[in-house]
Formats: sequence, C-alpha cells, structure tokens
Amino acid sequence: MSRNLIVKNISHIVTPVGSNAVFGKDMEKLKIIENGAIIIEEGIIKCVGKESEILKNIDEKQYEILDCKGNAVLPGFVDSHTHFIFGGYREDEFSWRLRGDSYMSIMERGGGIVNTVNHTREASFDELYNLGKERIDTMIDFGVTTVEGKSGYGLDLDTEIKQLEVMEKLNNHSDIDVAITFMGAHATPSEYKGKEEEYVDFIIKKVLPMVKGKAEFCDVFCEKNVFSIEQSRRILEEGKKLGFKPKLHADEIVTLGGSELSGEVKAISADHLLQASDKGIEAMRDNKVVSTLLPCTAFSLKESYARGREMIDKGCAIALASDLNPGSCFTNSIPLLIALSTIYMNLSIEEVITALTLNGAAAIDRAAKIGSIEEGKMGDLIVLKYPSYKFLPYNIGVNQVKNVVKGGKVIKR
Ligand code: NIG
Ligand code: FE
Repeated sequence: MSRNLIVKNISHIVTPVGSNAVFGKDMEKLKIIENGAIIIEEGIIKCVGKESEILKNIDEKQYEILDCKGNAVLPGFVDSHTHFIFGGYREDEFSWRLRGDSYMSIMERGGGIVNTVNHTREASFDELYNLGKERIDTMIDFGVTTVEGKSGYGLDLDTEIKQLEVMEKLNNHSDIDVAITFMGAHATPSEYKGKEEEYVDFIIKKVLPMVKGKAEFCDVFCEKNVFSIEQSRRILEEGKKLGFKPKLHADEIVTLGGSELSGEVKAISADHLLQASDKGIEAMRDNKVVSTLLPCTAFSLKESYARGREMIDKGCAIALASDLNPGSCFTNSIPLLIALSTIYMNLSIEEVITALTLNGAAAIDRAAKIGSIEEGKMGDLIVLKYPSYKFLPYNIGVNQVKNVVKGGKVIKR
C-alpha cells in the first residue's frame, strides 16, 4: 500500500497548530486553508497549502490520489483515554444503574471493575486480541487514528501482562497506533480485600518492574474507597523511577485532591475531573498537566459534567476522550462526545477539535508527531462528509467521517 499520497480537492483544511498542548483561549485558534491540498511522502506530511500552489510542479502520477470532492479535512482524532481490552460485559449492572443504583454501590458489593477482572482473567490472549481488533475497527470508522488503552482488568501479574501484550500486538498489527498504559491500580482484587496496602506494595515491588518496557504510562484510579492520595502518589512516584509517565483518574466521584496531585507529580494528564476543585484546576494549569474530560462517562453515569468551560477560561489545556470501557461508559462514539461537549459543556467546536486532536496527542505525549496537519507530522487525517467542520456539532450524533488516512495509508475509503 502506497504511503505516498496526495489529498486534494479539499474545501477547508482545518487544524490546530504546534507541537505542544494548547492552553486556554488559544484552544479556539484553528488554522484554516481554503481549497487546500496535502502531500504525504513515506507516511509523513511533506507539504500543506493551497492546491493551486503546492501541486503546480508535482507529477501526480507518482502518488496515490485521494479526492475529497470539496469536503473538509481535519487531523485524525486521538482517543487518549480508553480501557478497550476487556473480557465479558456488564449489561446487568447497567440495568441496575438505570433503576437508580450508583456506580460505586455496585463496585462496593463486588460488581464493577472486579466483575470484568474475572472475565478478563478467563479470556485467552487471542480472544482479547480479536475483541480489541473489532473495537479498533469501530474507532477507525469514527476517525480515530491513535488510541490509548489501559490494562487494569487483570490485577494479577499474568493478566496485566496479557492485556499489555495484546495492546502491543494490536499496535504492531492494526492500522492505527496504540499508546499503552499500565493501570494495575484500577481496583483492589478480591484476593486482597481488606489488605489494600499489601496490594499497593505488590503493584510497586512485583508488578511495576515486570511491566517496565511494556507500557509507556502508569495510571491510578485515585478515588475515595479505591486508591488514596498517598497510595496514588507512591505508585506514580515509584513508576516514574522506572520510566513510566504518570497519569491519573482524578476527582471523578468525590473531590479527593487528585487534580492537585497530578500537578505535584507532574502528570502527563489528569482525567475525569467531574469534582475537581478550583485549586486542582489551577494546579493542572500551572504544571502543564492536560485535563482530559470524558463527557460520555458523565452522561452514562447521569453525573454532572466536568467544568470544561471554566477550565479553558482559567487557562487549562483540555483533551476530550471516550473512556470506552465495559462499565461506566460502554461507548466510543465520537459523535456523542462532540454533542455532549458542545451542547452541555459549552465548548465551541473549534475548542472541541483541538481537544480531540492536538491536545489528545499531548495527553499521550505525542504532540510533536501527531495531532495537527503540518509539515513533518505523521500523515493522519480524516475527510468529512461535509464542506465545513461546523457540521460536526450541527448534524447531531451522526458519524460524518467519510475517509480516514493513517500515515499516508487510506484506511477508510
Ligand atoms: O475510567 N473510573 C474508573 N475506571 C473506569 C471505569 C472502569 C469500569 O467501570 O470498568 C473509568 O470510568
Ligand atoms: Fe478511565
């Protein structure tokens, strides 16, 4: 398959600009090139500009051509927070939640994450791989060209490694890139019930050294009755010594101080943040932590949304991600994510695009390589069904992605 591609007949190329997370008011600034074209060579963007200028002296026969037929082109979406490798489903728990049970009450009586842990421990490597592949196909359909995935449904050494190795194989054998996070501190498994400190020691002393090199990031579910601030700090600091970049599920259900901790440990991102305090918001901003919001989870849990509008107004860098998982949010729908963040969180579509592309890339430390359509970046982009990006919030809940290009290869035609 050719990695030399010309993308032409584009109404508007729409992209954030830069190699770092974009903060505050700057999130709204997109570069727009009318009647554009993009030249990709060996998977890397060689040239972006007006079609009449950049294709003037080019022998188009040397390239595969993608004709956008007058539609808009954006960078590929980066889904920077998912738990997409899991066995089994939890449809009964969802029915209980519809009847009024809370997510935490189901977890406290032995359901929730540990329910999925049982199924994931039982699933073979190939079963998890095939499920992962199917889920990646749905991501591509929505225009996702890079996805982050977490372990954390093993909670024992072998199954954590199995999840990480499944993601590594998917990264090598699927059309999109998979950024891999170790999340052994997702819950305390039943065999450690009442011995939470021992489980934290097990993660730090036995598991972290064994998964070194198999994951780039280390994440902790820092939450009341899950892992405390002190335990989370300990795991992330020990992880840092081994080279893991810290991430945090922070202040999702109660205001515990995870956002502040993300600033203290200089996390790459702090995620969820429904209950982040003012101090926590300032800590993320001042320490350049990407604040990753997951509105589909708030929607699915019937919780109020994170204060995304305020966070941007106060100068934070927001990323938006799906949180695809079998419990709190069993959807990776980008159209739903766009609808919720524009209509209910009051973000502009320009901010949402930055959050789903360059800031998503920053949330997995890849903003220098992906997340925008600029020379030198990877040729990752999507063609919409419409000539303007403004259709994204307007044609509500509908997938508007017509073509997807990853590293110069057309992976959705
Ligand atoms: O990001 N909040 C913690 N972890 C996941 C949910 C995992 C599950 O319910 O299986 C989340 O929402
Ligand atoms: Fe999550």
